[in-house]
Amino acid sequence: MKTKLIAPSLLSADFGNLQRDIEMLNESQADWVHVDVMDGRFVPNISFGFPIMQTVQQHAKKFVDVHLMIVEPEKYVEEFIEKGADLVSVHYEACVHLHRTVHLIQEKGAKAGVVLNPATPVLMLEDIIGDVDLVLLMSVNPGFGGQKFIENTYRKIAETKDLILSNNSTALIQVDGGVNLENAEKLFEAGADVLVAGNAVFSSADPAKTIELLKI
Ligand code: DX5
Ligand code: ZN
Repeated sequence: MKTKLIAPSLLSADFGNLQRDIEMLNESQADWVHVDVMDGRFVPNISFGFPIMQTVQQHAKKFVDVHLMIVEPEKYVEEFIEKGADLVSVHYEACVHLHRTVHLIQEKGAKAGVVLNPATPVLMLEDIIGDVDLVLLMSVNPGFGGQKFIENTYRKIAETKDLILSNNSTALIQVDGGVNLENAEKLFEAGADVLVAGNAVFSSADPAKTIELLKI
């Protein structure tokens, strides 16, 4: 996987025109399609589940990145992978048996990511960093698009980078929440490999152009 990647989040897409928005991403410089699944229990919002995932599978030509904001994600990872997930990320805070869940994702044929909420320290990854393909640092409290970026993320990127290097890990660092044209370059410079952007892309006048600009 190469770095400096952009993963637009479908949470901010127009669900009445989802096929159109996915096709726009196919034609754009987006690298991944970020799929935010929320259950109303792990986070105070409900987004969507398998029917939308099937639409993504039908139309997306890009790498499909599924972010599960749900309790007991181990119950559902297999079905998300059957429905086209290339990467499944689960929250550290939602997994009692994180090691087992990470390996389940990989055994079923997908890449596995672990997600940290803004208040969860990077050191919690010490015993799982060697097993994961990606670390997703939340730069907002998960649940909603369009929130303000939390600045301690820069320090957490540096700490994650150190942890990755000291463990000879090849995990990518992804940042999700409040990413925009003002902070994208700084985040890449700080060591992020993949930036998720929802509102910044889909609320802009020209989403494909915005994706291009986020990479510069
Ligand atoms: C937040 C989601 C994000 C969200 C990002 O819970 O995980 O992926 O859609 O949206 P923006 O880029 O608008 O903050
Ligand atoms: Zn997300």
